[in-house]
Amino acid sequence: MIGLKVPKKEANSIRLILQEKSILNHDWKIKRSEDYVYLPLNQRPDSEFLGKLGLSSTKVIDTEFEKLKKRPKSMEDYLQGRIPPEKMDEFKKSFDIIGDVVILEIPDDLEEERYLIGEAALKFTKRRSVYRKKSEIKGVIRTRELEHLAGEDQPITIHKEYDSHIMLDVKEVYFSPRLATERKIVADQVQEGEIIIDMFAGVGPFAINIARRHNVQIYAIDINPQAIHYLKKNMIKNKLKGKIYPIEGDVTTVLKDLKVRADRIIMNLPGTAHEFLPIAVEHLNPGGILHYYQFSRDFEDPIKRVESAAHPHQVEILNRRKVKSRSPGVWHVAIDAKLS
Ligand SMILES: C[S@@+](CC[C@H](N)C(=O)[O-])C[C@H]1O[C@@H](n2cnc3c(N)ncnc32)[C@H](O)[C@@H]1O
Repeated sequence: MIGLKVPKKEANSIRLILQEKSILNHDWKIKRSEDYVYLPLNQRPDSEFLGKLGLSSTKVIDTEFEKLKKRPKSMEDYLQGRIPPEKMDEFKKSFDIIGDVVILEIPDDLEEERYLIGEAALKFTKRRSVYRKKSEIKGVIRTRELEHLAGEDQPITIHKEYDSHIMLDVKEVYFSPRLATERKIVADQVQEGEIIIDMFAGVGPFAINIARRHNVQIYAIDINPQAIHYLKKNMIKNKLKGKIYPIEGDVTTVLKDLKVRADRIIMNLPGTAHEFLPIAVEHLNPGGILHYYQFSRDFEDPIKRVESAAHPHQVEILNRRKVKSRSPGVWHVAIDAKLS
């Protein structure tokens, strides 16, 4: 292959010029003798260019270079050449990291390569365990099936979100790290002394985030016993200013017996939260705020649902947000509504 033989003293300045002109070949190792440096080239420079460098064309020589072993910089880099090129496009680079656990989405076409992809994820994220999504989020407790791909098969982890430490079992409870900003937005709105109901609390990421920062009382309800189990652990793990009352059960039954009216109610069950709007409205103090979540293509539908459940109370829409994408054109939307 072609290289440029240059005197040692001038090698660095010439290397920089070659690099700038994109003539230096970065796939091969520069080699050195006592007096000369040999720079690998990807094209033969013309004599005018060589003249400017103060070199004659005899300095362009045929010689051997050692191939550089390039370290892959990303998971995609690493997988190039290991999985068929036509399948590379299907490889989804986005994945969730929950504490020490990586959760990947692998299309059916890459079924055979799943362990290789799992190992790559383990290597590049430096986490402990890698799982693959095996189903949609489903059922009342909103969990999904996971297939272990690499690292330890240990689904219990502690996720750090802002300054909260959230312990959970990724197989047994719902948790999405993609809601971190949303939880902060809600916690930022809370005033000291509020009474709050978190109707679908899960392992408590909203409740912990709020009670860590504010002296409030939060009734945190969930139907999944495992979610309440981890919520209780999280109450111990985090230094809380406020008080959380964890309650296991169906929110409709729980609220029937709970003679509490709240200043704020969080309703993060975007598939079916609308069914619980009437009971939420019943438990809200005048001037109280609902954080209502729904899967929707627009903001109109969730706003209409809140307004109709609140009737005859007046509704002031304080904010509306697209929290995250659910599927093409469909969003997990948030509506902050104040009821008179
Ligand atoms: C989408 S997850 C949200 C969890 C939590 N708020 C978070 O942000 O991680 C919804 C939660 O609602 C709970 N859930 C579903 N139906 C319920 C019901 N009828 N009563 C109480 N909790 C319910 C599920 O067990 C699940 O933990």
